[in-house]
Amino acid sequence: MPMRKRIIAGNWKMHKTLTEGLELVEMLKAGYEPDGYYEVVVHPPYTLLSPVSKALEESEIRLGAQNVFYEDRGAYTGEISPVMLKDIGVEYVIVGHSERRKYFHEDNETVLKKVKAVLRHGMKPILCVGETLEERESGKAREVVARQISILKEIPVGDMEDIIIAYEPVWAIGTGKTATPELAQEMHAFIRDTIEKMFNREIAINVPILYGGSVKPGNVYDLTSEDDIDGALVGGASLDADSFLAIIKNAARKII
Ligand code: PGA
Repeated sequence: MPMRKRIIAGNWKMHKTLTEGLELVEMLKAGYEPDGYYEVVVHPPYTLLSPVSKALEESEIRLGAQNVFYEDRGAYTGEISPVMLKDIGVEYVIVGHSERRKYFHEDNETVLKKVKAVLRHGMKPILCVGETLEERESGKAREVVARQISILKEIPVGDMEDIIIAYEPVWAIGTGKTATPELAQEMHAFIRDTIEKMFNREIAINVPILYGGSVKPGNVYDLTSEDDIDGALVGGASLDADSFLAIIKNAARKII
């Protein structure tokens, strides 16, 4: 049985000019010592994808995008297609980030179209799910996450090996409030269970589930030590080379 992938991904969000982005990549390249345990991915903004792709040519660090449109081409002013991303070496695409859902009104239907578009072009979607504080406090966290995950029933079984899930409780993103490892583990296990019910045990065992929300060098070990936490999607702390490198270094290398 193949061992599931473990990933540390840095989501730069709307940060970094060309000079700043290239400087960060050079520092990451210089400091990163691959040990084969985690796949390391950076997700710069669209404007930097092409230059960062070139800068990463000889590196083990992989390239990801933060978003995508679901059509391949056409009159969609301002959008970027999966064909364009694939063309410049993008391998991972974040889909359905809570900031996209909140500020750009992406619903589960749109998110599903994007997941399919990413898969269609041989890239890997990182599907973000997670509840708001209000949803958690009203006891609806599992229900919300289950609904977000349920779009995967439209994905052919054979494509499930390219799916990555990121559990990012909205109340923990950019707030400094990390979910406790226990709370995160509980939701990760629930997600894996839900995937098992939708598909089968083998698919559930192999789907990587990352945690996101105020991951820092100081908390990444405890989070990734949990059985069902297969890595991290890091926002703020991925903008600084030293802290992102420390996160990669400190993340748990557990025996599965
Ligand atoms: P944060 O963001 O690490 O800054 O909380 C995580 C994310 O939104 O992916």
